[in-house]
Amino acid sequence: MKHIVSGIQPTGSLNIGTYLGSIKNFVRLQEAYKDHHFLIFIADLHAITIPRDRAELRKSIKEVAALYLACGLKTDNLSLFIQSEIEAHSQMSYLLQCFTYMGELERMTQFKEKAQRQEKGVTSSLFTYPALMAGDILLYDAEYVPVGDDQKQHLELTRDLAIRVNNRYGDFFTVPKPLIPKVGARIMSLTEPTKKMSKSDDNIKSRILLLDDDNIIRKRIMSAVTDTDGQIRFDPNNKPGISNLLSILSAITNESIETLVNTYKDTDYKTFKEVVAEAVVKELKPIKEKYHEVIKSGEVDTILDQGKAHAERIARKKIAKFNHKIGLGRKQK
Ligand code: AMP
Ligand code: TRP
Repeated sequence: MKHIVSGIQPTGSLNIGTYLGSIKNFVRLQEAYKDHHFLIFIADLHAITIPRDRAELRKSIKEVAALYLACGLKTDNLSLFIQSEIEAHSQMSYLLQCFTYMGELERMTQFKEKAQRQEKGVTSSLFTYPALMAGDILLYDAEYVPVGDDQKQHLELTRDLAIRVNNRYGDFFTVPKPLIPKVGARIMSLTEPTKKMSKSDDNIKSRILLLDDDNIIRKRIMSAVTDTDGQIRFDPNNKPGISNLLSILSAITNESIETLVNTYKDTDYKTFKEVVAEAVVKELKPIKEKYHEVIKSGEVDTILDQGKAHAERIARKKIAKFNHKIGLGRKQK
């Protein structure tokens, strides 16, 4: 069975950037790749590379799990699980660090950005984070990894590591390919549209959370920063705000940016924003309803237990083989 692997960090409430760049894509791919098995997890080990309040972390882990289901992930070809519940992830991370060069990690833009934002110490796990991520993927011999644009560099490193190990020990890991959505791979902040919409932005007005009330959603979109030339055109460099709203609308409606520009080119910004706001409200409504149902039903725990059992079987075997392959432990048969 071929595998598709991806994860999301439980670092606060999810926003439409993560949804459009990642979860909505998983739902689409589940339809398109019916013969693949999906291993989707909550990357809690990644979350603790930056200090977290433990009560908030626990709450967020449950919330992300329920949101995955509320967003429409089907459980037939899916193992949904929590990363830290499978020890092989930590083990694989260490083993892959033994194949990763300092120079490679030093080049990672996400590390540089996150390290710069840290006021206190920068942990060594923030630095080795890409090796943990590579482990998440290589443990399951993923063929495809659906992610947003910001994870491209980590995926490239994962591929390099797989190739490095394969060259040294003979074919051992599947070399994974990224699956990055055509639109929605980089949703920008509503208040500073040259920056990515992010869970860690101090300004809450910069993002829309999946569980936000309809009126908050409308307010955020209506006050999104745009420009003064009054034209609806897709031009991320010169018109980042309007281009971002076009991307959001396109990722939601599945209509191309071109079609949308044609439809709205003679519309004023206020009317266009109303269209975008209503599209977002309509998209998130069933998700919010389903979220509350999922939370009430208690089905999340059953699904996470099943996901864990399945993923663990695969991961355990792979880590045992890898230990053996590189010469660790006693010689086995
Ligand atoms: P994170 O929430 O940082 O764990 O990211 C989870 C997934 O969502 C990854 O595949 C990211 O690439 C994607 N993602 C996060 N923020 C955005 C954004 N603003 N636009 C598009 N994709 C995003
Ligand atoms: N690093 C990813 C992010 O911040 C989350 C993640 C962790 C991931 N492990 C992964 C994504 C493995 C894909 C595959 O967005």
